[in-house]
Formats: sequence, structure tokens, C-alpha cells
Amino acid sequence: MASVQLEGVQKIYDAGSRAHIAVHNIDLQIDDGELVVLVGPSGCGKTTTLRMIAGLESVTRGTLRIGGRVVNDVPPKDRDIAMVFQNYALYPHMTVRENMGFALTLRHVGRTEVDARVRDAATILGIEDLLDRRPRQLSGGQRQRVALGRAIVRHPQVFLFDEPLSNLDAKLRVQMRREIARLHRQLSATMVYVTHDQVEAMTLGNRIVVMNTGRVQQVGAPLELYERPDNAFVATFIGSPPMNLVPARLTRDGGLRVVADDGAFAVPAPQAWAGLLIGGAERRILFGIRPEHLRIDGPGASAGVAARLDLVEPMGAELYLSLRAGNHDLMARVPPQPLPPVGTEIVLGMDVAHAHCFDADTSVRLS
Ligand SMILES: Nc1ncnc2c1ncn2[C@@H]1O[C@H](COP(=O)(O)OP(=O)(O)OP(=O)(O)O)[C@@H](O)[C@H]1O
Ligand SMILES: [Mg+2]
Repeated sequence: MASVQLEGVQKIYDAGSRAHIAVHNIDLQIDDGELVVLVGPSGCGKTTTLRMIAGLESVTRGTLRIGGRVVNDVPPKDRDIAMVFQNYALYPHMTVRENMGFALTLRHVGRTEVDARVRDAATILGIEDLLDRRPRQLSGGQRQRVALGRAIVRHPQVFLFDEPLSNLDAKLRVQMRREIARLHRQLSATMVYVTHDQVEAMTLGNRIVVMNTGRVQQVGAPLELYERPDNAFVATFIGSPPMNLVPARLTRDGGLRVVADDGAFAVPAPQAWAGLLIGGAERRILFGIRPEHLRIDGPGASAGVAARLDLVEPMGAELYLSLRAGNHDLMARVPPQPLPPVGTEIVLGMDVAHAHCFDADTSVRLS
């Protein structure tokens, strides 16, 4: 197994007349045996980053190391990595056993060794009984396991996964995700896993790298990202339903308060935010509050936020409420409870101790 290190790595595609910067200056250290997830919206550069690590794309600028060795100019076959793609084509005319062993046979690994490695991988994946079947005789999840098996038998230094589960239905995806996590523990392998699904990222990664428009936005453990997002992008990308963000003013007028830009609500600000007002009596901010930090207060409650209840989505263990306060849409997550009819004005309580404050212009975290 090996570490992977990206130092100022950049990728510029030569797209016809104009160059396109797909990845800007990524610095990232992935430790030996770590499972790191790259997550971000479509087109943010995840696949490009993974393909550079694999050697399937050249690195325009910067240094890429695997196991301490600079590999910028090392061809893919000499990098000792195995990649599992979303569209893992299995050879239809070969059995599972042959599919899994094929890459080894190509490399002139001896027959006994191939058989032993295929058997080991099949045991790890629980597909020993399927070795003599052909791909068309397998379910989607079983085929996915064979694709993983093909990577495992190679005993690579690094596993690279590019959205390997996105062709599976929701339930199977959850199951396979657990199997990949188990596989990671069992093999103590270095793994880089790409997904656009933040739930998958949160449940799988030791560390998550959030990307947007070719740039790393934040690197951290799942709960670090959730509890202290570095900017408004990470704040709204990680967590579902996403954090509510309201353009507002932080002011000392009438006590330290946050006032929504349209005056729809005014709530006391955490005392720790007083330091953000040095050099002025007020400041424009983006006020962030997660749906679980909103609650429904009784009609008599003070310091509440008046909002219209627009939609109730029962999720079983909790309710998602869509609300409208002034010009702002808010989401709340509350325990199941009797609610007034949709369309009614209600009073929301905000747990402002858990609120987040971002710069109105740069959207960088201030609190
Ligand atoms: N071969 C190419 N030539 C030119 N531009 C490319 C090429 N491949 C990708 N791009 C561009 O680079 C950017 C990053 O693409 P990439 O495939 O890495 O995104 P991604 O994060 O994997 O997205 P998705 O979630 O949709 O798979 C996109 O703007 C894409 O259009
Ligand atoms: Mg991609």
C-alpha cells in the first residue's frame, strides 16, 4: 500500500481554440491506508483528478507522488493502481473467474497464483458460488462485486473508484457502500473514492475533499465539514436538507442581533460574533442555520421568526417543513407533531448558538 500526494496539481484541457482549466492547484496528502472521498457537483474536476492519479490524463503542472515516488511521467501500467469505473464493462463471454483473473493472466502471473488470488477475492466479496457464471447470469450488485474483485486480485498499491455504485438502485447502493467500507478495513488499502453524492461521501470517507469548479473547497472528517464548513458552498453542499442561508446584517443596534436583509426576522446573535463588528456598527453577512436548529414555538414565544408553513414532508422519524419568512425560503427538520394547516403563519424558534456566519461578499466563514 502507498500514500498519494498531489502538490500544486493542475489540469488544463486543450479544448479546441481555448484552454479549459479543469483542476486548479490541488494540494492533497492521502496517507497510506486511508480512504479519501472526493465529492462535488458535476463538472467540478473529480474524474479528472482521479484520472491524473491513474495516469490516464497527463498532469499539466505540479507534482504527483505515489508511495513517495514522482509518477508524473510514469505510464498507468507501472503505477500499480487499480481503478473501478461507473461503467465497469465485464467481458460477457468470460466466466466470473476468468473476468477476475484476466488482468493477472495478461501480466503472465502463473495459473496457480491467479486461481488463489481469485478465490481469496471471491471469499472477501462473498461470490465464491458465482465463479463459473457469466455476467448475464448475475444481478447488478453481483456484477458490481465482480468488478471490485477484478481490482482486488491485482493487490494494487492504491484503489481508485469513480462513482462505482451509481448504476445500482438506492438499496443496493447502501449495501455496496458498506461492503466497500468493510473491504477498506479488511485490506487496509489506500483508496480514493469519487462521488457526487454527499451522503455517500459522509458515510464512507475517513476524510472528505469537497471540490467545486476545479478547486478544493475544504478537506476534513465528515463531522468537521458538517459542523464547521469553511464557506457557504460547503455549508450548503454537505447536509440534507441543506443549511438555510439568509443574506442579513449583523448589528449592535438594539443588542447584538442578526437582521434578515428584508427585515423578515431579527434574532439575537451569539456573543462570540461581537468580534466580527470591530471597525463598524454593522456588517453584511450570510446567516446560516441548519434545518434541525429550527423548531416550532408556541404562539406566545418571544424572539421568534414569523413564517408561513408551505409544505410538510413526513419522513417517518421526522418532518421536513418548507417555510417562507419574508422573501426567504427556510427548511426545518422537526420531530413528528401536530401542525397547523399548510398556509398558516407559525412562529419558529432558532437555536442561534448553532448558527453560522459567512462573509456576504466572499462567502468565507467568519464565525
Ligand atoms: N477531455 C476533455 N477535454 C476538455 N474538457 C474536459 C475533458 N474532460 C473533462 N473536461 C472538462 O473538465 C471539467 C471537469 O470534468 P470532470 O469529468 O473531471 O468532472 P466531474 O467532477 O468528474 O463531473 P461528473 O460528476 O459529471 O462526473 C468539466 O468542465 C469538463 O467539461
Ligand atoms: Mg466524473
